[in-house]
Amino acid sequence: MTNLATKRETFLKDYQPSAFVIEKFDVEFDLSPEKTLVTSHLLVHRLDKTSQHLFLDGKQLKLISIVLEEKVPKFSQDDDGLHIFNVPEVFSLKIVTEINPAANTELTGLYISNNIFCTQCEAEYFRKITFFLDRPDVMTFYQVKIIADKQAYPVLLSNGDLVEEGDLPDGKHFAVWSDPFKKPCYLFALVAGDLAKITDYFVTMSDRRVTLNIFSEKQNIERCGFAMLSLKKSMRWDEENYGREYDLNIFNIVAVNDFIFGAMENKSLNIFNAKYILANPETATDQDYADVDTVVAHEYFHNWSGNRVTCRDWFQLSLKEGFTVFREQSYDEDNNSAVVHRIRKVQDLRNGQFAEDAGPMAHPVQPKSYVAIDNFYTRTIYNKGGEVVRMLKTILGADVFRQATDRYFEKFDGQAVTTNDFVDVMEEVSKRDLSQFRLWYSQAGTPVVNATGAYDSLNKIYTLTMEQIVPPTADMQNKQPMLIPIVTSLLRKIRGDTAVALVEPEKTVLLESNLQSFIFDNIEADVIPSLNRHFSAPIKLNFSYTEDELLFLFKYDTDGFNRCDAGQRLASKIILEGMTDEHYSHAIGEILRQPFSDLSMQTELLQLPSEKYLHESVEMINVDKISTARWQLFLSNAMQHEAAWLKLYESLVSNENAYSPEEMGRRRLQAICLHHLVALNKKPYIDLAVKQFKAASNMTDSIAALSALSHTDTLERVEALAQFQDRWQHEPLVMNKWFMIQAQSRLPDTLENVQRLMQQPFFHLKNPNNVYALIGGFCSSNMLNFHHVSGEGYHFSAECVLTLDVINPMVSARIVECLLAWQRFAAPRKDLMQKALTRIISAPNLSKNVYEPVSKALDMEEHHVRS
Ligand code: TRP
Ligand code: ZN
Repeated sequence: MTNLATKRETFLKDYQPSAFVIEKFDVEFDLSPEKTLVTSHLLVHRLDKTSQHLFLDGKQLKLISIVLEEKVPKFSQDDDGLHIFNVPEVFSLKIVTEINPAANTELTGLYISNNIFCTQCEAEYFRKITFFLDRPDVMTFYQVKIIADKQAYPVLLSNGDLVEEGDLPDGKHFAVWSDPFKKPCYLFALVAGDLAKITDYFVTMSDRRVTLNIFSEKQNIERCGFAMLSLKKSMRWDEENYGREYDLNIFNIVAVNDFIFGAMENKSLNIFNAKYILANPETATDQDYADVDTVVAHEYFHNWSGNRVTCRDWFQLSLKEGFTVFREQSYDEDNNSAVVHRIRKVQDLRNGQFAEDAGPMAHPVQPKSYVAIDNFYTRTIYNKGGEVVRMLKTILGADVFRQATDRYFEKFDGQAVTTNDFVDVMEEVSKRDLSQFRLWYSQAGTPVVNATGAYDSLNKIYTLTMEQIVPPTADMQNKQPMLIPIVTSLLRKIRGDTAVALVEPEKTVLLESNLQSFIFDNIEADVIPSLNRHFSAPIKLNFSYTEDELLFLFKYDTDGFNRCDAGQRLASKIILEGMTDEHYSHAIGEILRQPFSDLSMQTELLQLPSEKYLHESVEMINVDKISTARWQLFLSNAMQHEAAWLKLYESLVSNENAYSPEEMGRRRLQAICLHHLVALNKKPYIDLAVKQFKAASNMTDSIAALSALSHTDTLERVEALAQFQDRWQHEPLVMNKWFMIQAQSRLPDTLENVQRLMQQPFFHLKNPNNVYALIGGFCSSNMLNFHHVSGEGYHFSAECVLTLDVINPMVSARIVECLLAWQRFAAPRKDLMQKALTRIISAPNLSKNVYEPVSKALDMEEHHVRS
């Protein structure tokens, strides 16, 4: 915990290379839960002739001893680290520190999860392990010796290759690991515990055999097989699509129960939140399987985009995260229904990143300053950063983009670089001027593009005119126009209303000015434009389509993404503007009856826009109105096509549990049918859900039934929840689903229920997955109940934030996000949210993780003590 005076901002413009390098690093861990001794040997080289003062980062460390070349140097310790004075040009340092992993609830540095020692060093937590130059541009060779009790911790792991192991007196044993690659300390990892493993092999493109291990607690080892398949698939994919080969003899993955985020790409020793490793049909939903696949791929891809080529400083975070997200999404698109994957990723972007870009924490993909770097592991860095790389590929074309990434990996291998370096390579290889494109890295806010079209029948010309507005954000008022690639085609109805002609095949128009026109010639008759296809740019695009045109696009657009988007636009008009739903409803009826080969796509077309998406579509958010109108439309869709939903549902019933795009699509479609039927609140449909719940032989079907029932005020709901608890209460990952479903219920007593569930013995405030499921499920996914006009939801969230802040500031900072957009809610909510924020900021000893977003939300700039 810090006090206000230490909440300094760090600025990109202040970056200075390190005056010292670490030539070599040898470290020994003598592990014991309450008292771990870390003995580190650094070989330091001073580059700068003038500075004889070495500062090593260090937090919460107990210094036992320090020796510089055999002598105790002149030194002093403060809250941030160790100052060593009068150092020579080349010297060795031996520093012994003591840490207490058992007392570590922050889950950073060295901590213990279910009796497993593990580490989390990104971004700046290696300094909680030992004194070091904790910055990514300081890279060195690591040799790590681990000593621990052999019975309690039979498995000892670190990065690189195992070079030695053996027994020691007093029931202890040791292992020595050596990593042949230089790395920054944020990629260091250590694991020690009583772990089971599965092993497999991968033969790389140059015929090297790599051993692959996945470790987990013994009772879960049967559930690691799917992750292993994903790992092998990812390794092959990166060879085939980016020419990237794995570079070590071993690749280890360890699954732990307590982890702040998804997983961590430590060199050759990835550590995962167990949620993203464990999967079998009984306990994991299709979404869980998909998430495992995605996260395994993401972390594996980091070996090149992040580890071999790393970040110069944390302002460059998107260099590795944005690029890796893009690579992971491309992998997912290749393995699933690509268009549906894209649709869903764009939904995430619009629901989350757009809100971030419009809120008090808005920041560019390359931020200019931060108080807590932890707060910048954001949707902007990750997802918008991924979109930026996607745009580069769109602009350059697939072949040139691949040449450029090859060049990037070759040129910067082993170096710590910047997002600018990345774009430089794109420029160098494509020979294009990308200076304007770079604004995507430096300007925050979601650009708005207003497009209009005009057809000149005399000259057979269609003119598309586009205006762009980059909205002001707290960090910058006036913005320059961006380079926006808008993939466009022109469509026309043929034979009445039954088919579509692609008048103008897809082409990428580059919008570069504030206002610009694009001319299409030889257009025989008026057309309907399909703009920003595949969501080619992360923007808000407005075009005043008529209802008829939207209906046409909803039925016929040849781009699946835009087809679905037209449906969302139509539904939004009904919900937000009160347009009648007659034609939309008719179109829904048609989609229900049409045969689809891709059932996931059919499901997407039947889906209403989310409440969050609707919130992002308006200036001032009226929670009740949006929630009620959306629910009305949902009910109306259910009612008007009751028979069709039922018929479709029945046609989809099956006992097939396989995880494949086809079966997954079938289960998704079946689930949306059930949701509509159950919403009608008729006994036979409630019974149908109960029947599905009881008969389910996989978690996806079981959860679909339970979540449909969760909004009904019925005995059946109560019974199903009780049965589920009975069956799964000893499976923490499964119970998170049970928490989440209840947290998201529309029933009016949901908050009371959430508070009751927090008292259950199987709910742990120290476990991030539990917190995100129950507290996060309520505060950030239950718009109706969280925003209850009484303000009780806000009060609850503030309580949770303050309680969690003492345990784990990073987790707390994620929960507090639900209050940040207070200014966009109509009174009285606005005032009630502000009150909750004020309460948080007034708390003594608030962490900087929570302080930063809350102070920005309250616009309390004066509280920042500028360094
Ligand atoms: N590099 C990790 C990823 O995206 C991010 C991460 C995992 C992280 N755990 C963390 C960052 C804890 C900060 C703190 O894959
Ligand atoms: Zn990552």
